[in-house]
Amino acid sequence: MTSTDLSGSTALVTGATSGIGRAVAVSLAGRGAHVLAGGRNAGRADAVVSAIRAAGGKADFLAGDLGDAGAVRALAREAVDLGGGHVDILVNNAAVYPARGQSAETLEDDFDSLYAVNVRAPFFLVAELAPAMAARGHGAIVNVLSMSARFGMSGFALYGSSKAALELLTKAWAAEFGPSGVRVNAVSPGPTRTGGTERFGPGLDRMAAAAPAGRPAAPEEIAAAVTYLAGGGASFVQGAVLDVDGGRNAT
Ligand SMILES: NC(=O)c1ccc[n+]([C@@H]2O[C@H](COP(=O)([O-])OP(=O)(O)OC[C@H]3O[C@@H](n4cnc5c(N)ncnc54)[C@H](OP(=O)(O)O)[C@@H]3O)[C@@H](O)[C@H]2O)c1
Repeated sequence: MTSTDLSGSTALVTGATSGIGRAVAVSLAGRGAHVLAGGRNAGRADAVVSAIRAAGGKADFLAGDLGDAGAVRALAREAVDLGGGHVDILVNNAAVYPARGQSAETLEDDFDSLYAVNVRAPFFLVAELAPAMAARGHGAIVNVLSMSARFGMSGFALYGSSKAALELLTKAWAAEFGPSGVRVNAVSPGPTRTGGTERFGPGLDRMAAAAPAGRPAAPEEIAAAVTYLAGGGASFVQGAVLDVDGGRNAT
């Protein structure tokens, strides 16, 4: 087994029915992982699972709503069953982001539902899965953040704060589970062309223009960084945030 070979491992990727999560699922399956593709949309899930299987990989759909507090731990246990008794890689990718996020216009229900998917769900997936990884002495968790967690942007207070919470959790979990062999890291993407960002139209290009790269990313460019952190090539990387934002955070 090489440092990039993931055969024998099970990877749960949340939000794998679209965009970055889909690209991560395809990439991890291409390295030999059995991918559990999380999401709610059965049609889009079938498309990604079928594409992986057609390429000779192994994938199954793990259906569930991460906004439902009672469902998250159960979903993690279902993943363990589906994964043959173990989940070795967890990619916390699913998230919701509002089209307009001005604080004064934000309703309490919006706040709660965004934090439920972006913070509470990753928290309880890790709470359920990381102890078993620690007991086995190995595992990798990759959280998908956002450049909007790295600096203040008008209109991104709620969403950015949820990703900033996940950034702190990345470091706290590295401290908590790292000594037992579980590496916890994060990728912080910049504007990326996905199903979720289609609605922003040219706004996505304008946002991307502020970075040295000057263009939005393709989902595969973010997935490459997630795949690196999930694999043995990152064996000494712990609690790190890898900015994959075309250089926006550096300027
Ligand atoms: N695209 C960007 O420009 C960008 C930039 C920075 C960071 N990010 C981050 O990158 C990640 C992926 O973004 P994306 O643009 O690829 O997203 P996307 O195209 O909008 O896809 C979102 C995914 O999350 C799943 N999801 C959403 N709510 C869910 C829920 N309640 N329960 C279960 N699954 C749920 C969706 O699955 P179903 O629809 O099947 O439920 C879908 O697979 C997110 O964490 C996002 O914050 C994206």
